[in-house]
Amino acid sequence: MKTDLTDVIDKVLIDEKSLQKKIKKLAGQINEYYSDKDNVTMIGILKGSVMFMADLSKHIHIDMVMEFMDVSSYEDSTHSSGNVKIIKDLDTDISGKEVLIVEDIVDTGRTLHALRETLLKRGAAEVKIVTLLDKPERREVEIKPDRCGFKIPNEFVVGFGLDYQQKYRNLPYIGVLKRSVYE
Ligand code: IMP
Ligand code: MG
Repeated sequence: MKTDLTDVIDKVLIDEKSLQKKIKKLAGQINEYYSDKDNVTMIGILKGSVMFMADLSKHIHIDMVMEFMDVSSYEDSTHSSGNVKIIKDLDTDISGKEVLIVEDIVDTGRTLHALRETLLKRGAAEVKIVTLLDKPERREVEIKPDRCGFKIPNEFVVGFGLDYQQKYRNLPYIGVLKRSVYE
């Protein structure tokens, strides 16, 4: 028999209502911060941020361009931390732009640390980061998101865009994955 999606979830960490409430609050802060700026580009990091980006952007009332990038940080130490492997690049030039990176979760911080450097090197006027989730205990490089929805403990979570082996992104809440799924 096919397993029900909810069978893989140990517990719901953040339910739909709490997610939407927090996203609305973050959007309010973003609207205020960018109210007097005219060159705003929001960059959603694929694929994890799609749900967050979609819901967040619906509450943003300023003029802005929506972009997406797919990146992964280099694992080996032969590359400087300023390098990031770009799998899908931006379609527009971001020089002189006020960039807001929209991320699903900050874990070791390597991806965002490298991406931030890359975008600054391309001439972005400013690079800010909003993340839905943050696992500060796991940090390996220094990076502090400018805005964060929820700080969470060191547990592997899925849903609302976040995956395990490309699955479970479609759950409408953030749940802790059962250890039996990956152990
Ligand atoms: P890092 O901060 O460079 O280590 O990478 C963060 C990326 O790892 C995120 O964008 C996610 O794609 C992935 N990630 C980290 N923790 C989790 C988790 O608990 N569930 C799902 N994906 C995660
Ligand atoms: Mg990601």
